[in-house]
Amino acid sequence: MVRRSLSGSETPPHRAPKRARIEHLTSEDFKNGIFLAPMVRSGALPTRLYALKHGATLVWGPEMVDKAILHAEREVDPETGVVSYNGKTRAMFTTHPIEKPYLIYQIGSSDPELAVQAAKTVMQDVSGIDLNCGCPKPFSTHAGMGAALLTNPDLLCSILTALRKAMPPEITVSAKIRLLPSQEDTLKLVERICDTGISTLTVHCRTRNMREKDKAVIGRLREIVEFVEKMGKGIAVVENGDCTGYEDAKRVREVTGAHSVMIARAAEANPSCFSPEPLIDVESIFIPAYLRLAHYLKANWNLTKFCVLQFNGTRKTLTKTETVQLKQSISRSKDFEEVKQLAGGWTGVEEMEEIIAAIEARPPRKRDVESVEVQEAESSQKASAEEDENAEEQTETEEVEGQFNLEIPLKAHVGGEVTPLNTVNPHPPSLCAPLLPSNPRLQYVRNRLR
Ligand SMILES: Cc1cc2nc3c(=O)[nH]c(=O)nc-3n(C[C@H](O)[C@H](O)[C@H](O)COP(=O)(O)O)c2cc1C
Repeated sequence: MVRRSLSGSETPPHRAPKRARIEHLTSEDFKNGIFLAPMVRSGALPTRLYALKHGATLVWGPEMVDKAILHAEREVDPETGVVSYNGKTRAMFTTHPIEKPYLIYQIGSSDPELAVQAAKTVMQDVSGIDLNCGCPKPFSTHAGMGAALLTNPDLLCSILTALRKAMPPEITVSAKIRLLPSQEDTLKLVERICDTGISTLTVHCRTRNMREKDKAVIGRLREIVEFVEKMGKGIAVVENGDCTGYEDAKRVREVTGAHSVMIARAAEANPSCFSPEPLIDVESIFIPAYLRLAHYLKANWNLTKFCVLQFNGTRKTLTKTETVQLKQSISRSKDFEEVKQLAGGWTGVEEMEEIIAAIEARPPRKRDVESVEVQEAESSQKASAEEDENAEEQTETEEVEGQFNLEIPLKAHVGGEVTPLNTVNPHPPSLCAPLLPSNPRLQYVRNRLR
């Protein structure tokens, strides 16, 4: 075949079909958002998927202590595409390829090396790594993790620095802290954290000794936001504490000046709180749909039961007594089969399809469009220059084709090893998602759904 000129307005003749846009997060993607907070147990996979369906910009997974994931075995369910990191007796962490562009994995750690190992274990399935520096529970703090890091800034910052150094640029590194009792100390800590190269800082606006029932002191955040902005590193500051949903997030941002808002308990009660639409009725619609989806995803029954029992709504259809009866019935059930009738039968495929459709309908990340255009223009120019140099080699069309591979940065990072076309299960620690012609994640799920 004759290689044609690539100069001027002509499109490349043998260009590969346009691949999925590069979906890596940057600190810009942590701005103007409304996020699902990390929640042990409550932040299970079906909850995260529903949060995304209803408008959560990004979702945090539940905190996982570094050591817990290190020896887990990664397994992909051939029917659903669910990726499980299995420990000896149970899945430590489950995810689905559809959420990868929006998923931040949270680590509990007090050791830079272990944190890096844990991050490397899961990095092919997530978009960012977050360090938990806020958990006040003794199981976390006694081991020097969580809120204990707030008073050990050297260790805290060494973990973040190690993560940033070890992670490829495609993976963001972030931290979630609490306020220190004094604002001055908080600002000093924030300055040090921001110097580690993180993309985002979430501030839970309570101190370590404050309980959830204590009102978050969001008034202190504005100064922190302004301080971080003055550092000029483009780091996003995320408010966390007492936000109740989409509308309330506007108020929180107005008061604090935060770039984004993160929601925990309101989302635990109703993951549709991210939507500008009225909350979905928990008892009549959400619980049955959640059960169907969890069953389809082969989620752990006890975890599913726990999540369902946290849902709490305005009871548009059931009376208080009926709601209590419904929850008691779920609480007594020992497996999915026992709630089949409540769920309105299986399959859960429709729920998954709706989630996929909702995620697919999201506008592309703006920056991606620009960066793809720049890359395309650069590729075109490069190809054009080569054309001039090698005009005599007019039959070697294959050379040109590869130059429009938008996955180049990823490929470069892992030393040129790319998972072969149509492979759905890259082996760790490869970062390269399979190179399918269209969005590989969606394509994969679709195939499974057919
Ligand atoms: C059930 C539950 C589990 C939580 N697990 C985590 C966790 O794994 N990591 C973390 O950083 N914070 C965790 N938190 C704290 C929340 O992320 C959040 O900081 C806190 O609830 C305040 O936000 P809210 O007022 O929106 O609830 C958890 C909170 C709840 C209610």
